[in-house]
Amino acid sequence: MAILLPGGAGYIGAHTAVELLNSGKEIVIIDNFSNSKKEVLESIKQITGKDFKFYEMDYRNRQKLEKVFEENKIEAVLNFAGYKAVGESVQKPLEYYDNNIYGALVLLETMKKYNVKKFIFSSSATVYGDPKVIPITEECKTGETTNPYGTTKLFIEQILKDTYNSDNSWDICILRYFNPVGAHESGLIGEEPQGIPNNLMPYIVRVAAGILPELSIFGNDYDTPDGTGVRDYIHVVDLAKGHVLALDKLDKEKQGLYIYNLGTGTGYSVLDMVKSFEKATGKKVAYKIAPRRAGDIAKCYADPKKAREELGWKAEKTLDDMCKDSWNYISKHKN
Ligand code: WQD
Repeated sequence: MAILLPGGAGYIGAHTAVELLNSGKEIVIIDNFSNSKKEVLESIKQITGKDFKFYEMDYRNRQKLEKVFEENKIEAVLNFAGYKAVGESVQKPLEYYDNNIYGALVLLETMKKYNVKKFIFSSSATVYGDPKVIPITEECKTGETTNPYGTTKLFIEQILKDTYNSDNSWDICILRYFNPVGAHESGLIGEEPQGIPNNLMPYIVRVAAGILPELSIFGNDYDTPDGTGVRDYIHVVDLAKGHVLALDKLDKEKQGLYIYNLGTGTGYSVLDMVKSFEKATGKKVAYKIAPRRAGDIAKCYADPKKAREELGWKAEKTLDDMCKDSWNYISKHKN
């Protein structure tokens, strides 16, 4: 029996593939390399010493997807094939709805056809919109997303809830990621955004590496201790391990629909990030204060208690690890 990973060559997919293989699971990856590279597949094999089946294809291609289900004994699906750039989603909403929502529908319909009903969905803290209560628990209100990317996450969550309500033999876990950063300690896999990065950590490492001249800190007049935005940064390897534990939970418990925040529970400001990065790596990060970025909120961090109690999951890596591992990856890949 194998676990199917659409988008398994991407940033979070590849790290999860490693953790699944390390825990003794068999996996099948499908990817169209729209936001990932072929070499990642070799890196996953190198890190784990294990092999797996791979299909180069778009997960929206129903015929090809059915073939994957026919050729393999799939027991569960972890979907990493979503587009994830907030700004781009504002420019190209139809592409985001098509890839993320239509893709999820094709996947769920195919799963239903082959009677595979275990599904783990990569959701995001973005579904909470501008949170009224901090730290954020899973019971906090969702909605009022501020961009099409976030709305695709919200809609897919609803599709999953409706699917489960229609048929309680589904076994679904929604994982709401906070801000994933870092890379595998080997430096073989990590985050490789196309073009100029939008997210903070990829930007910081490129300034430190001399690829970009300076970081713009978007606002220093927020209602936070130092005025800059506060977020819950989580090491991607901790995040990946959360998926293995979520899968264990679905295997052990009776069928259900479960929702968990995956965050550390600690908020760091943009300035905290810059200082911690400089301390961890000994590299200078030039920055200037710039106007607030449209759509940003002051602070967002998780209450991770539910995942700790029900999955036995806790983020173990420190901010120092996140900075060192992000730097190690870029140092090895800057050319
Ligand atoms: C973090 C902080 C910025 C860049 C987004 C998505 C979310 C998830 C993760 C995933 C904020 C500040 C950033 C820069 C800065 N999506 N910043 N200068 O906005 O919390 O979350 O990414 O795939 O759904 O919304 O993350 O890393 O962009 O920003 O000052 O050049 O860093 O203002 O306070 P965000 P981020």
